[in-house]
Amino acid sequence: MTAAVAVAAKTTTGNKPRVWAGACEGTPLRFDGASYGDGPTARTRTLGPIDFTTGQVRSLQFVTMMRRIGKYRVQKKIAAGGFATVYRAMDTVEGVPVALKIPHVEFQSPARLAEFRKEIRMAASLDHPHILPLKNAEVYDSQIVVAFRLGDESLAERLRRRVSTGKVLAWASQLVEALAYAHEKRIIHCDVKPENLILFDDVLRLTDFGIARVAAQTMSASGSGTVGYIAPEQAMGKPSFRSDVFSAGLVIYRMLAGEVPAWPFRWPPPRLARVRSKVPLEFVNFLRRSLWVDHRKRFEDAVAMANALDRIQPALERFRKRGP
Ligand SMILES: Nc1ncnc2c1ncn2[C@@H]1O[C@H](COP(=O)(O)OP(=O)(O)OP(=O)(O)O)[C@@H](O)[C@H]1O
Ligand SMILES: [Mg+2]
Repeated sequence: MTAAVAVAAKTTTGNKPRVWAGACEGTPLRFDGASYGDGPTARTRTLGPIDFTTGQVRSLQFVTMMRRIGKYRVQKKIAAGGFATVYRAMDTVEGVPVALKIPHVEFQSPARLAEFRKEIRMAASLDHPHILPLKNAEVYDSQIVVAFRLGDESLAERLRRRVSTGKVLAWASQLVEALAYAHEKRIIHCDVKPENLILFDDVLRLTDFGIARVAAQTMSASGSGTVGYIAPEQAMGKPSFRSDVFSAGLVIYRMLAGEVPAWPFRWPPPRLARVRSKVPLEFVNFLRRSLWVDHRKRFEDAVAMANALDRIQPALERFRKRGP
């Protein structure tokens, strides 16, 4: 991360432009089975696991019926998240494979469509080597269809296989750089997790800016009632840049430890000894600064995280040469 980012961030902060947190703001989360941030004000907002009587089926029917959506020839379903189904398709004009994201039908009301349009515009304005660019977004038969370059796999899938520490550290800095760029533009991602990091030739790209908002609220993605990668204050309906810092810290911790820490996120998290054997103390402290439950003790945003990562590069280099 270059100092230029930090300087630019200061300027942007000075102007106090509005922060984009989309619909992930203001809605406390509750879970079936496991509650999180439970309190008198918490409202229930769950979608539950995928239900074949609801939108997803209709979304699938839409695709099965169409087979071809505009210039795209749908080939197969890749995955279904809480908010959309993702298909592999061929762009018959450009001749390249794409990932088509089609929100479930319950997210396709006119009000939601208007919201998506705004969010898609915001997502389309992002231009960074570690952010997955939108290829195209169109409305077909009042269904919104968003196309992205097709990646090799998500980080979640990749983490099922062994990853070297060198690669984890490279991915950690790619993630932090992408987030720092977004934060500099006053955008909070709100849903940083391995499923939203897509690998292209071993290079990470963060996806689901804007269009992840509704999904982040419903928490149906995990389907397991776990809080996943969401920061405590975000679960209480108050996301901030620090919430993204927390989620990114968890993703990095997960890559090193092989397991994601769970609520109540007490320090030391599980498998800290394993993490300490792989990285210098300076990096462990960096993770700790990212993972405080009290958001005021965390890095204020990913720009601060990126600067801290820069400062510990010499320690990482020494550690790499000498070993633990
Ligand atoms: N551009 C892409 N290239 C390849 N695979 C992708 C791409 N975009 C998404 N995927 C795959 O589709 C999966 C589902 O994505 P999706 O964003 O719909 O769900 P999610 O991130 O798991 O949950 P959520 O609904 O909370 O966003 C991802 O985990 C990834 O495996
Ligand atoms: Mg996603």
